[in-house]
Amino acid sequence: MKTLITGGTVVGPLGAAPLDVLIDGETIAALFAPGLQGVAADRVIYATGKYVVPGGVDVHTHMRLPFGGTFASDDFASGTTAAAWGGTTTVIDFAVQRTGEVVQDGLAAWHALADGNCAIDYGFHMIMGGVDDEALKAMDHLVEHEGITSFKLFMAYPGVFYSDDGQILRAMQKATDNGALIMMHAENGIAIDVLAAQAVARGQTDPVYHGITRPSVLEGEATHRATVLAQVAGNTPLYFVHLSASEALAHVSAARTAGRNVFAETCPQYLYLTLEDQLGAPGFEGAKWVASPPLRPRDEPHRDRTHRDDLWRGLRTDDLAVVSTDHCPFCFKDQKELGRGDFTKIPNGIGTVEHRMDLVYQGVAAGRLSLTRWVETCATTPARMFGLYPRKGIIQPGSDADIVIYDPDATTAISAASHHMNLDHSAWEGFEIAGKVDTVLSRGSVIVSDGAFHGRTGHGRFLRRGLSQYLR
Ligand code: URP
Ligand code: ZN
Ligand code: ZN
Repeated sequence: MKTLITGGTVVGPLGAAPLDVLIDGETIAALFAPGLQGVAADRVIYATGKYVVPGGVDVHTHMRLPFGGTFASDDFASGTTAAAWGGTTTVIDFAVQRTGEVVQDGLAAWHALADGNCAIDYGFHMIMGGVDDEALKAMDHLVEHEGITSFKLFMAYPGVFYSDDGQILRAMQKATDNGALIMMHAENGIAIDVLAAQAVARGQTDPVYHGITRPSVLEGEATHRATVLAQVAGNTPLYFVHLSASEALAHVSAARTAGRNVFAETCPQYLYLTLEDQLGAPGFEGAKWVASPPLRPRDEPHRDRTHRDDLWRGLRTDDLAVVSTDHCPFCFKDQKELGRGDFTKIPNGIGTVEHRMDLVYQGVAAGRLSLTRWVETCATTPARMFGLYPRKGIIQPGSDADIVIYDPDATTAISAASHHMNLDHSAWEGFEIAGKVDTVLSRGSVIVSDGAFHGRTGHGRFLRRGLSQYLR
C-alpha cells in the first residue's frame, strides 16, 4: 500500500520546506518537490496549509504506575490511544523494579501489561527501586539483551523508589561501563520529608503544602549533587527528568558548558502552570496538580524572570533538550481523594500524554519557540536521546512512517469531557489553544483522521532501543 501526503510543509530538525511524502507500507519511501507528476499511490492525503511533522516521541510515561497505594489510571490501551489522538506515535514507559524485587521480574510484569495492548509503538526504561549487586548485573543484561538502555534513579521518595548517594554512584559507574543513560529524579527527598512532616504536624494539610515543602532550591541541590556524582563515576551520561526549576537548570547549563554529557527534559505543566493558580486552588481542588517536582510559584525566582521564562529559554538553547509529559494520571475520585486531610497521601502525578504536541506548539504560536525546536524537542531529540533514531523522530526515506499532519489554523479546546485519557478531570480544563492534530499515521496506517480513531490496541510494537545517539 502506497500513501502520498501532498501539499504540506514538512518540518524537521533542519527546517521547514514544502515537500510531498511518499509512504510505502510501513516506512517513508521518498520526499520530493510538491506535485511531481507520475507518482503512483493507492491513497492520497491532502495537507495543504498544514505542517507535516514526525510523530511525537514521549519518553516519560507511567501507565499503571503503582504509587501511594493505588495505580496510575491509564493502562497501556487507554494511555497509548490518548497519546495517538494527540499526535504522539511512540512512548517510552517506565518499567518498575519495586524495592526488594528482581529487576527482570519487574520488566516481565511490564511486558505483560503492554504486550498486545498498545495503539502505538513503545519502549521501556527501567526504574531501579533497589540498587544492589544483583540489580547492577541486571543493568548489563537489560542493555545487552532487552533493548533497555536507560535507568531511572530517585533522589526523592525515601522508602519507595529512593536511592542513596552510594547506590546512585554504583549505578552510575555501571552505566559508565555499559553505555547506558542514567535518568535522575532530582529532589532532596530526605529534606523534603522532614519539611512535609513538620507541615502536617502544624495542620498545614492542603495540597498547596505539597509545593511549599518541596522548594526549588532542593531540586537545585539534588541536580548539582547528581552532576558531581556522575563526574566522579567517570562522566556518566546523565539525563534529568521533569526539570522544573531555574536553580536546577543553572546546574545543567553549567555542566553542559563544561562539555559534559548532561541533559534534561521539562514537561508542559512546568511551562504553563503555577503553585498559586493551580496547586493553590481552593479546598482540595489543588490535588489535581499534585506532582513531583511541584508546580513552582508564579513569581519565583524573580518576578521578571520566572522559572517558566527560564524553562522556555532552556528549550531554545538546548539546555532543555526534550519535552516529555511525565504522564502519571490519577482520578480525583477515590485516587487523589486518598490525600484529603493529608497532602502527603495524595498520589503524585498529572495526566498530559494527549496534549503535549499541542501545548508545546503554543510556544511556536506565541513566538517563544521555532517550528524546528518544536519538532526537535517533541520528536527528533527524544528519539536520538534514547536510541530510536532514525527509525523514529524524523521524516526521511527509510524511517518509520510515523507522521502527524498538524493544522496551525485550527484550535484545540481541552476538557475532561472530550479527552481520551482514563481520567475524570483535566489539568488543562478550559485551555483553548492554537493548532490541532489533524491526521496521525503510525507505521503507514492512518490511526487518527477526520476526528475519529481508526487504530487498534495491539498495533503498537515493542521497540528494542540502542544506546543514546545524543552524546557528545
Ligand atoms: O509526580 C510524579 N512525577 N509522578 C510520577 C513519578 C515520577 O516521579 O516521575
Ligand atoms: Zn520522577
Ligand atoms: Zn515520572
